[in-house]
Amino acid sequence: YPTDSHHSILSSFSVQSEELQGQIEELSTLSDSPSPSVTRILYSEKDVLARRFIKGIMKKAGLSVRKDAVGNIYGRWDGSEQGLPVVATGSHIDAIPFSGKYDGVVGVLGAIEAINVLRRSGFQPKRPLEVIMFTSEEPTRFGISCLGSRLLAGSETLVNTLKKAADAQNVSFFDAATSAGYNLGPDDLSNLVLEEGSYSAFVELHIEQGPLLEEEGLSIGIVTAIAAPASIKVEFEGNGGHAGAVLMPKRNDAGLAAAELALAVERHVLESGSIDTVGTVGILELHPGAINSIPSKSHIEIDIRDIDEKRRNGVIEKVHQSAINIAKNRGVTLSEFNIINQDPPASSDKAVIDAMEFATKQLNLSHKFMISRAYHDSLFMARKSPMGMIFIPCYKGYSHKPEEYASTEDISNGVKVLALTLAKLSLE
Ligand code: GLV
Ligand code: MN
Ligand code: MN
Ligand code: MN
Repeated sequence: YPTDSHHSILSSFSVQSEELQGQIEELSTLSDSPSPSVTRILYSEKDVLARRFIKGIMKKAGLSVRKDAVGNIYGRWDGSEQGLPVVATGSHIDAIPFSGKYDGVVGVLGAIEAINVLRRSGFQPKRPLEVIMFTSEEPTRFGISCLGSRLLAGSETLVNTLKKAADAQNVSFFDAATSAGYNLGPDDLSNLVLEEGSYSAFVELHIEQGPLLEEEGLSIGIVTAIAAPASIKVEFEGNGGHAGAVLMPKRNDAGLAAAELALAVERHVLESGSIDTVGTVGILELHPGAINSIPSKSHIEIDIRDIDEKRRNGVIEKVHQSAINIAKNRGVTLSEFNIINQDPPASSDKAVIDAMEFATKQLNLSHKFMISRAYHDSLFMARKSPMGMIFIPCYKGYSHKPEEYASTEDISNGVKVLALTLAKLSLE
């Protein structure tokens, strides 16, 4: 890598922080819940408006913009050499109910600003540079995380799931897409898979979503691996009945089965022997949901993660055994135990790590190597491209709640590291 050229671009590296912060604020107003919380669900009206907003900013940055069948949006800056694989960056802008302004957003708006930084510095890429805004990293609407990037990585299972998928209001995936202006058929989904070798690197900028960088007073986290997530849907069914009239020995309460399973999840996770195993029951619904009716049906969704895939799968197996035993002991039916996804972890690529470290050092920023406990579109891009992630600190590690916050300075540092990393990778 020519030392002179990076020195000359570095001296004119400037992030327009105020403008970027303004964009983050403006995007946060496209929300279905009151400020400071953000709720932006796949293919909702606000999601459509947010997509339009992002495309506008991409165009303003001089990128040529296209979208694919599910609405992944791509902004391309052509390189000086034709036909070379692309160096890409990006993240998501969908937001789970009552979350914050920065998760994903920093990696989309920050990526476009990184392109602006490079343009203003006079840099000319050799390989094309591309910013990708992925469709639905969050599983909120159809229960599938990283929907856009999973399809790019290629998943026939997912294509088949989507053919039957419906949201809580029973709107099918295809109808939801149509209402957002995406007219796609089942074939379009299979055709999204990326060609081998079309990307030479993918780098995602993201808030840490954990407390380590802030606690240790460091500016940049260089992610070496992404932990392995899994999600499971469970349903119990019992007879229900009147809360006064049915005596305790006669009951088979589907709600208590769910409660017992939630506690079993916690127990099995704690018994794994590692602090890296985590499990959460974030959804627990009872039917019919009346104070004076014994729950006849319960639905719970379980999230289990680990950096060790085998250990995580061991926990899933124990949870399954517990579900079977609880059903038997309580006389309810385990009508569903569905592992929605059970993804393997991903490692960052050595050359991408080197480029991120190089950039961090050139910019005189402190850093550490770390793993990502949250999942990201990078987990799936890693199946098609060498991958890396840049983390920046966030206030107390807060994420997936309205108090999520990253400072303008930390965002600006992340944008610079991303810009220099992309520059280096694009000249390789
Ligand atoms: C994605 O937002 C995750 O839950 O890690
Ligand atoms: Mn998230
Ligand atoms: Mn995210
Ligand atoms: Mn995430």
